[in-house]
Amino acid sequence: MTKKNLDPFWMPFTGNRAFKASPRMVVAADGHYYTTDDGRQVLDGFSGLWTTGAGHCHPKIVEAVRAQAGKLDYSAAFQLGHPQAFELADRVCGLAPEGFSNCFFTNSGSEAVDSALKIALAYHRIGGEGHRNRLIGRERGYHGVNFGGISVGGIAPNRKMFSTSLLPNVDHLPHTHNLEKQAFSKGQPQWGAHLASELNRLVALHDGSNIAAVIVEPVAGSTGILVPPVGYLQELRKICDQHGILLIFDEVITAFGRIGGAFASERFDVVPDIITCAKGLTNGFVPMGAVLIKEKIFERFMQGPPNAIELFHGYTYSGHPLACAAGLAAMDVFKEEGLFEQSRANEKMFEAALHSFKGMDGVVDVRNFGLMGAIELAPSEQPGERGYEVFTECFRQGVFIRNGMDTLQFSPFFDGDEDYYTQIFDTVRKVIGGSGK
Ligand SMILES: Cc1ncc(COP(=O)(O)O)c(C=O)c1O
Repeated sequence: MTKKNLDPFWMPFTGNRAFKASPRMVVAADGHYYTTDDGRQVLDGFSGLWTTGAGHCHPKIVEAVRAQAGKLDYSAAFQLGHPQAFELADRVCGLAPEGFSNCFFTNSGSEAVDSALKIALAYHRIGGEGHRNRLIGRERGYHGVNFGGISVGGIAPNRKMFSTSLLPNVDHLPHTHNLEKQAFSKGQPQWGAHLASELNRLVALHDGSNIAAVIVEPVAGSTGILVPPVGYLQELRKICDQHGILLIFDEVITAFGRIGGAFASERFDVVPDIITCAKGLTNGFVPMGAVLIKEKIFERFMQGPPNAIELFHGYTYSGHPLACAAGLAAMDVFKEEGLFEQSRANEKMFEAALHSFKGMDGVVDVRNFGLMGAIELAPSEQPGERGYEVFTECFRQGVFIRNGMDTLQFSPFFDGDEDYYTQIFDTVRKVIGGSGK
């Protein structure tokens, strides 16, 4: 067999040269396992990329997509509809907090974020407050990779190359992470709620009447699991209300079971005005994202002649039939198998497994919320190298996890049992023990 040419594919968020010199290739997946091209079974400790909490190739979703593919491949997204898109929007709004009446479909989390920011700006403009054009994100926030998302986002390498082209009128809250005060917190740290008051400082600086929206991840994921301090999200909500600012929760990771319910607002008892989601929406099966909005926001757009387009925004693949079929089947599976409840029930087992690393040489922090967890390692000489080494060695030993620099990240399946956790964390323990030497 001739060696395949791996060069043309420019892989995303990957060290292309190292990968192609030593590829990690999977050709199939089933349940909790990937199958590699050399026939090995690799246990997935990340459920895809936070996406696939119900397991890979779930037969119900496979069947639904297969059936849809043979019936309606595509339907024009503008001025034409197909029933599954309406049904899925209704199902998703039914799971959202009270008052959420509408759902705008996108193809990814990044698109959901940029759509949400545009909806927030347009909402204020239609309401006669076009001057409300400032957006507030947060340091270390990840909101995808489109220009809006990287502008409100706070991950330096994602912004560095584009710094002169980022959106204007954006400011950032400080992140909430502090190892001295919070290291080895289980769940929400007690320290840090006062950092939400930094929004008051930005309100004083820019004047609240000029701020359109604040966007945060309820639990920051990609930056290495930063859990909101007790009371922090409540305080953000309060300040937004005082100044007519929309609060956007970016729930691309946290929605659909990852933190033991349909949405983070349920868990934290804080209701935003706009929610973005993706990933779990189809269990990662077909790319899809969504923006959920409250009725008061939607209603403001519904003006003028009924045939006039209310929002000049949309994607060719908004509400794609295959994505909708996958989404509807995923919603069925979540419900029928009680997966949000299983996810919640497994939190303690996950937490105990993670925190058993406390005290291990080179482990500087462990943090967790729901089924999102991180083990932060002390860096070796070159920051990020140790995390990468542990990740690649775990894969070689049959377990897929993820590293963000020197922080190992975990995103288990909702129905993982004791054996599942034992296999993941025994491997990680063995590998960390042997790393950095
Ligand atoms: C909170 C958050 N927002 C947005 C995104 C971007 O989603 P996508 O990669 O589907 O564009 C991600 C992806 O991880 C995310 O975690």
